[in-house]
Amino acid sequence: MTPSRSIVITGAAGRLGTYLRSSLDNLATSARLVDIIPAPEAAPDEPVEIYQGSVTDPRLLDAVCRGADAVVHLGGFAGDAPWPDLFEVNVGGTRQVLEAARRHGVKRVVVASSNHAAGFHVRGPQPLADDVAPLPDSLYGVSKAAGEALCQFYSVKFSMDIVCLRIGSCFDAPQNHRMLSTWLSPADFVRLIEASLASSRPGFQLVWGVSANTRRWWSTAGGEAIGFCPQDNAEGFAELYPECPPGPEYVGGVTI
Ligand SMILES: NC(=O)c1ccc[n+]([C@@H]2O[C@H](COP(=O)([O-])OP(=O)(O)OC[C@H]3O[C@@H](n4cnc5c(N)ncnc54)[C@H](O)[C@@H]3O)[C@@H](O)[C@H]2O)c1
Repeated sequence: MTPSRSIVITGAAGRLGTYLRSSLDNLATSARLVDIIPAPEAAPDEPVEIYQGSVTDPRLLDAVCRGADAVVHLGGFAGDAPWPDLFEVNVGGTRQVLEAARRHGVKRVVVASSNHAAGFHVRGPQPLADDVAPLPDSLYGVSKAAGEALCQFYSVKFSMDIVCLRIGSCFDAPQNHRMLSTWLSPADFVRLIEASLASSRPGFQLVWGVSANTRRWWSTAGGEAIGFCPQDNAEGFAELYPECPPGPEYVGGVTI
């Protein structure tokens, strides 16, 4: 049964936003879709409203957050970019989204962080905790770590429930050997958002976004805390990537 809630999705025209849009029935009764590029028009009977604009625009955010039950914030640069752009959109835009959610009393905010916010942690024998300290491996990672800090600040200062997802690699299928460890299947991504929206009063919660991969190196505890039960395992693709390249030893996959 479709949960009775109205959600805002930023970055809705992107890959992850499109995965959510195609599974909207699992998430909400209606959605306001925000992206700086035009999203495909609503299909007949599709319960969505399309808004083209930037997450840095507080008036647009006021319009979409008014009366919304939750925001899923995916919009921004999904990889390295010049610092002024990362700062304006990934840091400044995230602050604007949180600020609009606060102004309008939105009860739940889910924010796409990235494994690159903690990417320079070294892989070890034990799974890395969901709330391991930020250790960015790129300026993109720095922008995501700053986004996490903003989320924590808004949660503590204003008692907001905010789930920050340190997403691994969300693609239709793993694309290289590393992704046998870091893959988040599209279906598990939708499950992760479902859990993030449904979990009762999480406060501020950091969660690794990863499927039930045999070779995962991230903890499952944060996901379990919000009721996330991943169903997919990248091991089914292992024969495509038999060669284990030397290094990198960092969880973000970046070398120094
Ligand atoms: N896909 C992954 O494996 C992965 C991994 C880690 C983190 N993430 C994070 O998840 C989120 C979504 O990733 P994705 O793979 O769908 O990326 P994507 O590039 O496909 O989608 C991002 C969307 O954000 C939009 N956008 C950019 N600037 C914007 C702005 N100023 N205002 C509004 N919208 C804007 C883009 O137009 C795009 O449609 C990103 O925040 C990314 O950093 C993704």
